[in-house]
Amino acid sequence: MFNTTTINRFQQLETPFYYYDLNVLRKTLETCSNAATQYGFHVHYAMKANFNPKVLDMIQSYGFGADCVSGNEVKAAIEHGFGKEKIVFAGVGKSDKEINLALDADIFCFNAESVQELVIINDLAKAKNKIANIAIRINPNVDAHTHHFITTGLEENKFGINTWQLPDVADALRKCSNLQFLGIHFHIGSQITDMEVYKSLCIRINEIQDWFENHGFKVKVLNTGGGLGVDYHNPDTNSIADFESYFKVFKKFLNVKPDQEVHFELGRALVAQSAALISRVLYVKNGLKTNFLVLDAGMTELIRPMLYQAYHQIENLSRDSEVGSRKSEVGSQDLTQDSELKTSDLKYDVVGPICESTDCFRKDVELPQSYRGDLIAIRTTGAYGEVMVSGYNLRDRVGSVYSE
Ligand code: LLP
Repeated sequence: MFNTTTINRFQQLETPFYYYDLNVLRKTLETCSNAATQYGFHVHYAMKANFNPKVLDMIQSYGFGADCVSGNEVKAAIEHGFGKEKIVFAGVGKSDKEINLALDADIFCFNAESVQELVIINDLAKAKNKIANIAIRINPNVDAHTHHFITTGLEENKFGINTWQLPDVADALRKCSNLQFLGIHFHIGSQITDMEVYKSLCIRINEIQDWFENHGFKVKVLNTGGGLGVDYHNPDTNSIADFESYFKVFKKFLNVKPDQEVHFELGRALVAQSAALISRVLYVKNGLKTNFLVLDAGMTELIRPMLYQAYHQIENLSRDSEVGSRKSEVGSQDLTQDSELKTSDLKYDVVGPICESTDCFRKDVELPQSYRGDLIAIRTTGAYGEVMVSGYNLRDRVGSVYSE
């Protein structure tokens, strides 16, 4: 991802910023698109993972649809050329304003998450004399075996409709004349790398689609959601998610009838490896038991490690990877950093500048001896990085830099 020219270019730039390698993005999109097309599967990009304009334009150019979770995402999808017939709108709390916006835009489908929501969409559609396409988001109670905070398909989660509520859904669908039932929708969680989990999901989907068919509802669309994980530990050697195995599981275990469509909502797997957060070391500081590398980026720029204990590879771009290789260049008179590094030296707690103890990217990170001004890359941050930036501490908005 980084050659000498790139690193020299970074030297001239104000940090922190997100660096997008558009080549990685292109390769990823191409691989996913080819893998999905061979089975006739439809992929909607989950915009929540990254709505950087350049990223959206490139994803759109590969013919993906959009999976939106707010009115503004629907708007942005349309502005970036995603066809309205490929836009799905999910979310457990869609406001009337957002529903109206999506109705006006004539999107492909609402993924509805409660009986109450069905009634509201029906009323709003009636007022506009429109018919809204609906997929019912069902909670399949399949454990995604991922971090608790990004698990969404268990009965305890707020998302979707539990299967014991399906008779109420059927009643509502029969009564709501401005709704057109299209199919069923699922999303069980994110950063899922165990393909067995998807097999379990397929088995549940098969049971649930039978229930609908047996109750007189024709299921045209099976939307299995997203969640495919990426390799946070090997961003260079394993930069493309395993789309092939992922789609193969659905091909093998999902009962797809001849006139049915299978849809996916992938976010992370399409964008995660294409970006790194680039920051500079501000200070190197001794703690009681540890050395702190204080960066100019913190939880305001990337919150995943603090929120989900997420692992991101951390690299010093200014030093040779050989540990301590430039040690001799900085004498003991250098007052920009504490002179006595702890014996665990070359292990650092990499922290940000934010006034919160939790503002730590990782503890005990092995790095070459590092100095003020060194460029640090935090890898695999193209998904849920830039989009989760906050203005806490009245920080400057992080920049974006592109490989071309
Ligand atoms: N569809 C629905 C309904 C979703 O809620 C999500 C993600 C996706 C699709 C896309 O999932 P993906 O393919 O990206 O796993 N901020 C967390 C991840 C939250 C995921 C929210 N929903 C993180 O940084 O790990």
